[in-house]
This record gives sequence, C-alpha cells and structure tokens, in this order.
Amino acid sequence: MVDVLLGLQWGDEGKGKIVDYLAADYDIIARFQGGPNAGHTLYIEGKKVVLHTIPSGVFQPHCLNLIGNGVVIDPVTLKKEIEEIVALQPDLLERLFISQRAHLITPTHRALDAASEAAKGKEKIGSTLKGIGPAYMDKTGRNGLRVGDCLDGNDFEEKYGKLKQKHMELLKQYDYEVDIEGWENDFKEAVAFLSKLNIINAEYWLEANIKDGKKILAEGAQGSMLDIDFGTYPFVTSSNTIAAGVCNGLGIAPRYVGDVYGITKAYCTRVGSGPFPTELEDEVGEALRKAGNEFGATTGRPRRCGWIDLVALRYAVMLSGVNKLIMTKTDVLDSFSPLCAATSYKVNGQETKEMPYDLCSTEVDPHYEEFAGWEKPINECKTYEETPETFKKYCSFVEEYLGTEITYISNGTGRDQLLKKS
Ligand code: GDP
Ligand code: IMO
Ligand code: MG
Repeated sequence: MVDVLLGLQWGDEGKGKIVDYLAADYDIIARFQGGPNAGHTLYIEGKKVVLHTIPSGVFQPHCLNLIGNGVVIDPVTLKKEIEEIVALQPDLLERLFISQRAHLITPTHRALDAASEAAKGKEKIGSTLKGIGPAYMDKTGRNGLRVGDCLDGNDFEEKYGKLKQKHMELLKQYDYEVDIEGWENDFKEAVAFLSKLNIINAEYWLEANIKDGKKILAEGAQGSMLDIDFGTYPFVTSSNTIAAGVCNGLGIAPRYVGDVYGITKAYCTRVGSGPFPTELEDEVGEALRKAGNEFGATTGRPRRCGWIDLVALRYAVMLSGVNKLIMTKTDVLDSFSPLCAATSYKVNGQETKEMPYDLCSTEVDPHYEEFAGWEKPINECKTYEETPETFKKYCSFVEEYLGTEITYISNGTGRDQLLKKS
C-alpha cells in the first residue's frame, strides 16, 4: 500500500520533520509533485537540514527514496543538495532513485519565472522564482525536457537547444535581460551528474515493491490551499498538491492508496501573495511569527501568520480523504491566550462553511470560536495525557469540526518531539 502525507494549509506545516519520523516505519519515501520551491526542515542530531527535492526519508538508513515523475527537478539545485547530504549520509546515492519521466527545470525556466513575476507587478504570485510554473507549463504544453532525455542516445542537446530558443523568444517579449550563459555551464555540468544517478522506470519499480509488500509513503510538498485546481487560484503553485496528485505523480493506481496523513499547524501561515482570511496583520501576528520562527525555509521571506482556519482545513480534509490528522507547532501557542479558530465565513452577509469560489475578489469575514490558552508549556509534556485540559479541549474541537482524529501532536523541532495521540 501507499500511504500519503500532505500539507493541509499553505505549505510549511512541518511535513519534513514528520516524514523523517514516520520513515522509520516505511521502506520507501516518494515525492510526487512540486520541486525546489519546497523547503522541508529536519533536525538530525541537533543539526538543521533543509531538503528541497530529495525526499525526507534519507536520514532513516534503511529507507529508499524516490523522486517521482510528478516532480520538476532543477539539476543544479539537486546536485548541490546531494553534495550536502552525501557528507552526512555517505550511502545516499545507493538509496536515491529518480523517475525518468520527471521533468527538468532549465535556467531559462527560472528566468521566465522572474520575468513573469516582474511583468505582473503588484499582482505577482510571490513565486519562489525556482522556475516551477514555467517548467510545468512546458510539461503540459508538451515541450518539456525529461530526466530520461539526459541519457545517452536521447538527443539531449538538440531538445535542450530547441527549448532554449523558444524561451529566449519569450524572454525578448517580456523585455527581460538575463545572462543565461553564466547559468548554463552549471546546468550542463549538473545534467551530466544527474545522468549518472539511479534513473529508473519508477512506475514498474513501485509496482514490484507494492507486490513485494513494501511500505511506501508518498511525501507531499506545498499545501492543499496551494493546489493548482482547488487552492486560492491564481495564487497557487503549478501542481496538484492534494492526495489525487499521488496517482499521476508516481504512477500508482488509486486502489493502492492507503492512509492519508494531513498536517496542519496549530495556527496558520502563508508565504507569498494571495488571500489568507484569518491573517493577523497586528502585534499578535508579529508575535506568532517570532514565536514560531516563521521565515521561509527556501527563500527566507517572513511568513504571514494567523489563526487556524477550520473552514479551509475542512475543505482540504475533504479533498484528500484525510483519515489521520497531525497537528504541529503546538508549543508555539504556549504564550497566547485567548486562541481563536475560524469556524465559518461571512460572505455578502451570509454565513457559510464552504470555501468561496474566488477568495481574491470576495470579501470574507471569518467567525471565530475562542479558546483559553494552555496553563503549561506543551513541550514539557511527554504524553498526550500529560497535556493540560485547555489543550485537549482545543484538539477535540478541531477533531470534531474536521470529523477526523488527530494521531500525532508535534511539540518541538526535534524528530522525537512528537506525542502519539491515537
Ligand atoms: P515543511 O515545508 O512542511 O516541511 O515545513 P518547513 O520546514 O518549511 O517549516 C516548518 C518549520 O517549523 C521548520 O523550521 C521546523 O523545524 C519547524 N517545526 C516543525 N514542527 C515543529 C513543532 O512542533 N514546534 C516548533 N516550534 N517548530 C516546529
Ligand atoms: P513546502 O513544501 C510554502 C508558494 C510561494 C508562492 C506560491 C507559488 O516547503 O511547504 P511557486 O514557486 O510554486 O511558483 O510559488 O506558492 N510556495 C510555498 N509556500 N511552502 C512551500 O513548500 C511552497 N512552495 C511554493 O510562496 O506563494
Ligand atoms: Mg517548507
């Protein structure tokens, strides 16, 4: 079976930390979408590691790791990341596999991302500028370059040359000047490096492993509210971040999907532009950013902070069929009282518990339920039973509203700062 773990908000819910922990019980961790826009933070023996393209199972020595066909790979960032991780895990390359069908991000994709954002001016998406949107556009536009194209005999140079030409024309239209040649040397070197890695026909590999009874966990990137179809469009990323993305991002049949773990912070953050109904643009938001150290793992940008939004969360739980909730960063709320949770929106004077079609052009007034803060620091608790009643009340409310049980509660950055609840 293939279990799934994904973010239920706007990303950065703590997926990396949780996958690193859960990977102890899995044979394979497989990334199914996104690319180096992701930044998954792990603490390994006190040392901070941020993974962008490599799955978060690499620090469990028995675990194999797959970068699936649904991922877009920047060979330059992947090479850098591998070099960093090999220093910590010398057998990394024996445990890392890449689908030949995954698409490549080229230097011109990055330039196009920057040009497109600059052209949008105030309406920019707030992209991480890693070339994600342009790479997925070429994939669906049937112009993309794939990992398998790097292999001998697959005319990489010719295919790359054609794509670059097309991109240079587009960049001219944007009137965007960039020194691609500088980036190109690194790119070609990294492509040669990539071509020597374990490039596989991943869908057959996964099928064989499933038939062999191996346990597989699909690791999501970004979050459900950044999904290309169901997120706060157009302020989204360019892939399906919900559980449905697992099937086409790995090439596995829906009937093989097992448990779906959905992660939410005990509050909410967003980085980049776009609607965020429960955002706190005041000193409480500022205090949350400080307490939660809410700065982007990929770009370093300050994250916008606000209260947990149960309307959006219920939508995300519904879309992915989440049956196991995980709540992270509970310790961050230690010094906040009262706490709030949005339970409905008022839209045009009407109360609703549904996500409006277009949050960008709709005035949304969230209705909040208030909760007393907890009397004791959560990271001092070693079991769920030890947590204060006020904390239990908050958790029960979230579970009831979402109709899903919380299985784990994270109360710190470390791998083992996790309370099993059910
Ligand atoms: P991801 O993209 O979902 O993997 O999340 P990020 O790594 O971008 O952001 C989550 C941040 O919160 C990281 O800095 C983690 O180290 C940190 N973190 C994760 N869980 C907890 C927790 O329970 N408490 C605290 N204080 N920090 C946490
Ligand atoms: P992880 O996996 C948070 C956001 C960007 C921007 C929008 C589009 O670490 O949770 P893109 O680069 O995809 O064109 O940016 O999506 N975004 C993320 N926000 N966490 C992420 O990944 C993100 N990946 C992209 O900030 O608003
Ligand atoms: Mg992140």
